[in-house]
Amino acid sequence: MRILITGGTGFLGRALCRALLDGGHALTVLSRRPDSVRRLCGAAVTPLAALEAWPSEPFDAVVNLAGAPIAARRWSADRRAVLRASRVAATERLVAACARAGHPPAVLLSASAIGLYGDRGDAWLGEDEPAADDFLGGLCRDWEAAAQAAGALGTRVCLLRTGLVLHPSGGLLRMLLPAFRLGLGARLGNGRHWQSWIHLEDWLGLTLRLLADGRAEGAFNLTAPEPVTQAAFTAALAGALRRPAWAVAPAGLLRALLGERAQLLLASQRCTPRRAVAAGYRFRHPRLEFGKLLAPNS
Ligand SMILES: NC(=O)c1ccc[n+]([C@@H]2O[C@H](COP(=O)([O-])OP(=O)(O)OC[C@H]3O[C@@H](n4cnc5c(N)ncnc54)[C@H](OP(=O)(O)O)[C@@H]3O)[C@@H](O)[C@H]2O)c1
Repeated sequence: MRILITGGTGFLGRALCRALLDGGHALTVLSRRPDSVRRLCGAAVTPLAALEAWPSEPFDAVVNLAGAPIAARRWSADRRAVLRASRVAATERLVAACARAGHPPAVLLSASAIGLYGDRGDAWLGEDEPAADDFLGGLCRDWEAAAQAAGALGTRVCLLRTGLVLHPSGGLLRMLLPAFRLGLGARLGNGRHWQSWIHLEDWLGLTLRLLADGRAEGAFNLTAPEPVTQAAFTAALAGALRRPAWAVAPAGLLRALLGERAQLLLASQRCTPRRAVAAGYRFRHPRLEFGKLLAPNS
C-alpha cells in the first residue's frame, strides 16, 4: 500500500514506520521537520513538508498520529489551544486534503486516547462509553469527530483510543525508568486508580490489523485486556528492577504542582479492548510483565 503518516517521527510513528517498511509498504511522512524524516523513520520514507504538496499518485491509507505532547507543559489557555489545534484543526485539514485528492484513501486510522472517558473509578470501559465532560474528554471527542468526517468520502475510519503504550524506547516508561532505577519510584495518590496500558508490540499488531481488515470501523480501545491499579503498576516496575518504591506522591501535591494535568496521573480508567477481541485480535502481552518488557530484546 501507499500510506501517508502524520506524526510519523514520534514514539509510535517511528515504530509503525519500521513495521510498515518491513511489510513492503511505500511510506510518506507529513512532518514539520521534513529534513529529519529519513533519519527518524527510515531511509526509504518520502518526507512531505505540507498538505499543499500532496502528490498526484493517490494514497491507499492514511494514519494520523500527530499532536503536540499532552503531558509536556501546564494546560494554560495558550497550551490548550496548541493541543487542540495540533489535533482537531490538523485532522480537519488532513480530511479536507483527502477530499481534494482525486481518490480519497480507502482507510483512515486516526489517533485518540482513553483520556476520552475521564475519571471512572472501577467501571469497565468499553468503546460505547461517552466522552467525559472535561478538557481531555472534549479534545478527544472533537478529534474523533474531525476524523469521522472522512466517512463522507467513502473512507473507512478507525479511531485508535490508545492507552499508556509501554516500551523502554519511549513514552511513559522511558520517563519513569531513571527514577525507578534510582529507587525513587512512587505510588501516585492512593494507588487504587486503574491504568490501562498496552505493550508497543500489541499497539503495532492492532494498528496493522485495523489497517488491513476491511470490516473494521469506528472506535477501538488499544489497551491490554488486563488493566492494573497504579499501586500494582508501581510495585511491578520496581520489583522488575529490584528496587524499592516506598514513596508516595500525594494526590493533593500532584494537583498543586501540575494543575488539571494531574488527571493524566490520577484518573481511573479501567478499559477493555472489547471490539479488538471481538474482531479476533489475540494479544501477545495480555498481562503486565515488566521482566519481559525490559528484557534487552523486547
Ligand atoms: N504514546 C502514548 O502512550 C499515547 C497514548 C494515548 C494517545 N497517544 C496519541 O498518539 C499519538 C502519537 O503518540 P506518540 O507518543 O507517538 O507522540 P509523540 O512522540 O509526541 O509524536 C507526535 C508527533 O506529532 C507531531 N507534533 C508534535 N507537536 C506538534 C504540533 N504542535 N503540531 C503538529 N504536529 C505536532 C510531531 O511530528 P513532527 O515533528 O514530525 O511534525 C511528533 O513526532 C499522539 O497524538 C498522542 O496523543 C499516545
